Amino acid sequence: MKTIIYSIAGFVALGVTVVHSASVLVRDPGLIPYEIVDDSSIPKSLTGVAGDPAKGKKIAVGRKKGNCLACHAMPIPEQQFHGETAPSLYGVGNRLNAGELRMQLVNSKVTNDTTMMPSYYRTFGFERPLKKFVGKTIISAQDVEDVVAYLQTLKTDQ
Ligand code: HEC
Repeated sequence: MKTIIYSIAGFVALGVTVVHSASVLVRDPGLIPYEIVDDSSIPKSLTGVAGDPAKGKKIAVGRKKGNCLACHAMPIPEQQFHGETAPSLYGVGNRLNAGELRMQLVNSKVTNDTTMMPSYYRTFGFERPLKKFVGKTIISAQDVEDVVAYLQTLKTDQ
């Protein structure tokens, strides 16, 4: 296998290995390596530890963690303000599979390089990261798995 410099949606990642044409292995410095398939999915769990939907919901709501409600409406009636700038996440567990949900969270720029959604598990490619965030992700690999598990429970449209 040869290591190349691979540009994901305009961001240059060092140490990405092309496994076969439809899949790339991403080695983001300091993070767990993962494989992107067909530019749209990370089929394998980052940690191998099953996600906990209840924890995932807390991470999604947490203003200093996921803060998903800043942009998305979600079936969380106990929280008052829901964003309207992004698509509603009602029923997203029917629309996207675990691999696609993981991809969206880890690096949302892979499927849409102009998206305003943050990449929650990525350290490379930020133009001017705040010093305290250098080498750090917004949430941990297990947090990603917990949020994926939670999103998979969102099966109804209202
Ligand atoms: C700053 C705004 C913003 C935040 C915060 C945000 N998102 Fe998004 N998200 C978007 C936008 C905009 C899209 C639409 C797709 C695109 O831009 O490519 C999107 C798309 C998605 C999708 C794909 C939806 C679909 O139906 O295809 C999922 C899943 C998702 N977001 C989950 C989350 C989760 C979970 C969080 C919190 C951990 C979150 N987002 C935080 C803006 C945001």
